[in-house]
Order: sequence, then structure tokens, then C-alpha cells
Amino acid sequence: MNFKEDNYTGQLPALSDKPIEKFYQEVLEGLGSIPKRLQSKYFYDQQGDILFQQIMDCPQYYLSRCESEIFQNQAPKMAHFLQSAYDSFDLIELGAGDATKSQFLLQSLTEHQVDFTYMPIDISGYILSVLQDRLESQIPGLDLVPFEGEYFEMLAQATCFSSRPKVVMLLGANIGNMAPQDARLFCANIRKMLKPDDLAIIGFDLKKQPQVILDAYNDEGGITSRFNLNLLTRINKELHGNFNLNNFVHYQTYDPGNGACKSYLVSLCDHTVTIADHSIKFNRDETIFMEVSQKYQLPEIDELARYVHFEPIYRCQDLKGWFIDDFWQAI
Ligand SMILES: C[S@@+](CC[C@H](N)C(=O)[O-])C[C@H]1O[C@@H](n2cnc3c(N)ncnc32)[C@H](O)[C@@H]1O
Repeated sequence: MNFKEDNYTGQLPALSDKPIEKFYQEVLEGLGSIPKRLQSKYFYDQQGDILFQQIMDCPQYYLSRCESEIFQNQAPKMAHFLQSAYDSFDLIELGAGDATKSQFLLQSLTEHQVDFTYMPIDISGYILSVLQDRLESQIPGLDLVPFEGEYFEMLAQATCFSSRPKVVMLLGANIGNMAPQDARLFCANIRKMLKPDDLAIIGFDLKKQPQVILDAYNDEGGITSRFNLNLLTRINKELHGNFNLNNFVHYQTYDPGNGACKSYLVSLCDHTVTIADHSIKFNRDETIFMEVSQKYQLPEIDELARYVHFEPIYRCQDLKGWFIDDFWQAI
């Protein structure tokens, strides 16, 4: 069933692996659960990608600036480290986005004439085309093979691409968009696809002054709010929904105790929304959980690495000590 066809009949789709039907099933499942939730991987349609790029430019959103600083200042050292570890390798980036940070490493590796293939993986075809256009003009000669789709389906393909050692990157605090138990499972799944001595490079946002964290997800210009609400617009457009965005407001929390910074949309009134031929009731003040952005302490990162059979071997921090990109070797 094609949700975008004009002759839409309002019937339920059959269970399927097609992305649009999976989107529909996961939205209904999330909004049918108590409390309601949506999956943040669906934030990233074209408009979501553009809004996320605007979030990265917000003065309060320190994460991108800290990680860009790490890559800008330390890429030559990172490149030297990788060059001395491997004669050649495949550099696979999960959730690459527009490669804002990794571009510095790609540049350094290319300047050092390192033999590598860059394989960005992203669920958003739009952002992959932005990335490809930019990198092809900025880094001529870069060997780039993009993979559009879900992390692990694409990682399975990318790891079979050659027999060379693998370096898998997960930047932008993407790991933070998972609850700690899901992050463990995620890292364990990465490890399963690697061989001993392969590497993972993972970006973690560190625990810090709680107000600094809360402000990063609550910009005064309301971009983060529009980013969250855009998922309802996406459901309206792609799944024949009728969300009225004026019935919801964005609400952000941060718990310095457990390091979880969470985004919600809160219903402002009792109302009913339809998606295809499904009705979903919202009570006034009822919430939809949208996304977690988990913050870590260094011992928690070490514990996570070792729990999933990696050894942390190289650590890059920004000058403020707010963000870390950790190199883990598969053992
Ligand atoms: C927070 S952005 C970070 C982008 C980039 N790593 C950076 O640091 O600027 C998350 C990216 O991961 C992608 N993404 C989210 N969930 C995904 C999934 N399940 N599979 C593949 N890509 C995903 C999104 O499309 C988006 O481009």
C-alpha cells in the first residue's frame, strides 16, 4: 500500500518491511502504548534534517561545537593514530548526517594519503545527498560509498564490502538517543559485526552543569520545539494523519541524577487524532515521549566499553571537557 497515492482507501497496511509501512506500524504501536511515545529516528525527513542543522547552529546547543572543536583540532592526531594502526581500512559512519564533524578526519586522512573507503550510513536519503555533494567538492578523490537505511541493516552490508579492518564511528552523541540498556545492546551489536582489533569511535556528551544541558534542548527561538512538532507534520503528510500542531507544546526535562535529558510533546486539550483509519485519543496534559539524550560520566563509558568487549584505547576531549570521542578496540 502506498500512503502517498491519491486513491488512498483508508485500509490498514499488511505487515511489511517497507519503510513507510514500518513507520506506520511503529507510530501506531507507540501512540497505542501507555505512556505514549514516538521513535526519534523518524525526526529526520527533509524538514527534520534542515531543522537539525539549525539546532546545531543554536548558541545553546554546545554539543556540535564541542565535537566539531575536537575533530577540527585533533583530526591530524586521529589520522596519524589510524594510519599507524592499519595499512588500509573501511571507515563506516553510523547516522552520518551531513558529516559536519567527520569531514575534518576525512580531510586529514586524505591529506596523509591514507588508503581508506568512507561509508556513511543514514536513514535519511536527503541528508546523504547533502553529504555526498559537499564532500565530493570539498575532498576531491575521497572514496565514498553511501548506504541509505537503518543502522544495522546497512552495517551488515558495509562490513561485507571488503575484508579490510573496520573503523565504525557513531558521532553527534547519537548513542545518547538511547536509554543506557539500549546503548549496551547497540554497542554489543556493533561488536558482533567486528573482528578483534577493529575499532569503534563513539561520541558521548558528558554530565555537566544541569542548566547548561537543559538550555541546549530548549532554545528560545523554538527550533527544538519545531523539530519535535515536525514529526507530527510528517505523520500528517506521509500517514494521512490529522494532528493539529496547536494542540501540543514541547516540554524538556533533565535529571542530573540519572543523566537523562528527555523531550516530550504535551497535549493542551482533550482531543482525538486520526491516522489513516485509526483514532487516537489524547487527554489534556497527556504526554508523548519523543527522545532521550543521555549524558555520561567517564567511568560509565569505560564500564560500557568493557561490558560489550571493547577496550578504550584513545580518548579525545574538547577544551571545556564537556564532550568526548572515545576510541574502542574490539577484544
Ligand atoms: C543527531 S543526528 C547526528 C548527525 C551527525 N552524526 C552529526 O554528528 O552531526 C542523527 C543522524 O542519525 C540518523 N539516524 C537516526 N536514526 C537512525 C537509524 N535508526 N538508522 C540510520 N540512521 C539514523 C539521522 O537521519 C541523522 O542524520
